[in-house]
Amino acid sequence: MCGIVGAVSERDVQGILLEGLHRLEYRGYDSAGMAVMGSDGQVNRVREVGKVAALADAVATTPSRGIVGIAHTRWATHGEPSQANAHPHMSGQRLAVVHNGIIENYIELRDSLRADGFEFTSQTDTEVVAHLIEQQFRLTADLYKAVQAATSKLRGAYALAVLHADEPDHVVVCREGSPLVIGVGIGENFIASDQLALLPVTDRFMFLEEGDMADVRRDSVKIRDRDNAPVERPISRFEHSMDSADKGEYRHFMLKEIYEQARVIKATTEGRITKTRVLEQALGTDAGKLLENVRHVQIIACGTSYHAGMVARYWIEELAGVPCSVEVASEFRYRKHVIQADTLFLCISQSGETADTLAALRQAKKAGFRAAMAICNVPSSSLVRESDLVIMTQAGPEIGVASTKAFTTQLTALLLFTIALAKHNGLSDAKEAELVEALHALPSQVAAALDLDDAIEELSAAFVDKHHSLFLGRGSLFPVALEGALKLKEISYIHAEAYPAGELKHGPLALVDSDMPVVTVAPNNDMLEKLKSNLQEVRARGGELFIFADGESRMTSEEGIHVMQIPAVHPITAPIVYTVPLQLLAYHVAVLKGTDVDQPRNLAKSVTVE
Ligand code: G6P
Repeated sequence: MCGIVGAVSERDVQGILLEGLHRLEYRGYDSAGMAVMGSDGQVNRVREVGKVAALADAVATTPSRGIVGIAHTRWATHGEPSQANAHPHMSGQRLAVVHNGIIENYIELRDSLRADGFEFTSQTDTEVVAHLIEQQFRLTADLYKAVQAATSKLRGAYALAVLHADEPDHVVVCREGSPLVIGVGIGENFIASDQLALLPVTDRFMFLEEGDMADVRRDSVKIRDRDNAPVERPISRFEHSMDSADKGEYRHFMLKEIYEQARVIKATTEGRITKTRVLEQALGTDAGKLLENVRHVQIIACGTSYHAGMVARYWIEELAGVPCSVEVASEFRYRKHVIQADTLFLCISQSGETADTLAALRQAKKAGFRAAMAICNVPSSSLVRESDLVIMTQAGPEIGVASTKAFTTQLTALLLFTIALAKHNGLSDAKEAELVEALHALPSQVAAALDLDDAIEELSAAFVDKHHSLFLGRGSLFPVALEGALKLKEISYIHAEAYPAGELKHGPLALVDSDMPVVTVAPNNDMLEKLKSNLQEVRARGGELFIFADGESRMTSEEGIHVMQIPAVHPITAPIVYTVPLQLLAYHVAVLKGTDVDQPRNLAKSVTVE
């Protein structure tokens, strides 16, 4: 989940590397570094603890021009964030490596390299890779062959980029379990863990497959596959508009992305629904065949995407009458499971590169599921490439680490899927038309929820000095409460827990007092009366209530009860609309607390390690 960027050019590459790192900071940001081949034939390395801005300052003070370079932004796995542990790692003064992923057998490799006289200056697994390649380079005097020989000894997941002063005109890269893309320029070529990093310099990309290795030069890119056979990987053009990686008028990416939701939800339904129907074909040419005999859906995801899966379970069982199980990928992949006949395996992932989700998918493909389907936001991701059926969300790049628009577009895509599945299981035309009408209404309802922004900003003051908070919901709004609590803890560092409101008296009620704000999502649905009783229980213990409800819920503000009204929505789409005020609440609390909203401490956007 670190970020890699590299360039082989005719011009000085420092600016390209720094801009690339800025764009990759969402992947990790506890230290950063770069190594460039200087015109003096030396490898010049700069590393700094902290964000890319610190590296940029260091580079500005001691610029080291170079036309070939590699750079890295780190999210610590082995060894604390420190200058010594920051990448690039070097073996001697001539070989430099940047690495994303984890080398599982690094301890045994380190012991054997130490015995051969290599000295270690960091606690990282990556330094092992640097010395291992150098060891092989001494035997082969050929960087490509040295990387090939060294990687054959590695166990784990990695993307690597390597340069050597003895071969100053190229970078050798390889991919095994961590993403790597090659940016194709004119008379120059680039590499990165995500194409976003390279958008200022190119919009043409080649995606390495698992096991690929490439020799990247200014005027050529030669790729070989796992069996060492030369291969061509197709060049594709970047699809999103370039400015999607800019904050524009907004103070933070997160706020910008919250505000984009009305538009991107619409984009996710566009071309996929008519006035009254979901166009199954638009979900994939094989969609009809794959969905026809599905008898069970197994959803796998992590983090926010898991919450989307939890909402979908309510929809799938209610509308399609098909049993649905949801599990976090890191648990699913390490246990035995009984696979029911005709189970559709459905992965939800914003990035499509989450290590646990991908591992679960790869297991599932061997395990006899009916088909593997993905809901994803990144068309070029591993998840998309490895699934039988894909519904792309149209959120555009999401930069804020706390997921917002990715979540609501995942829900939108999941509802499209549910309706398509339900049509195979007896959903009437009239009900389909009603649901599609609710989908059409979503953008304006989300916009109306965004109108609460100022009021929520005011409300957020009540949370700033609190250490704990409780989020309650019932039915399909329970996962929304979970997501609201996750948002608050991720970016404001306030401990937030979510409970299905009916569980209140089985424990959490003991925590409720005037220091514990209780947030509730309470649309007018068939659980409302039960929810109201739960809220009485909170109020009776002095708990201050913050309720998001519609006019028909008939709840009004009074002493200790703050009601924010949003327009009435269809019960099925309520989870999408009610997510928005909870995102805004977390955002404003974090801004008031002065935390780093877009890059909260200890987290990373894309978790490509276990
Ligand atoms: C990280 C991110 C979360 C995200 C989760 C799953 O923890 O910080 O925002 O929900 O990974 O990521 P995915 O890309 O698979 O949706």
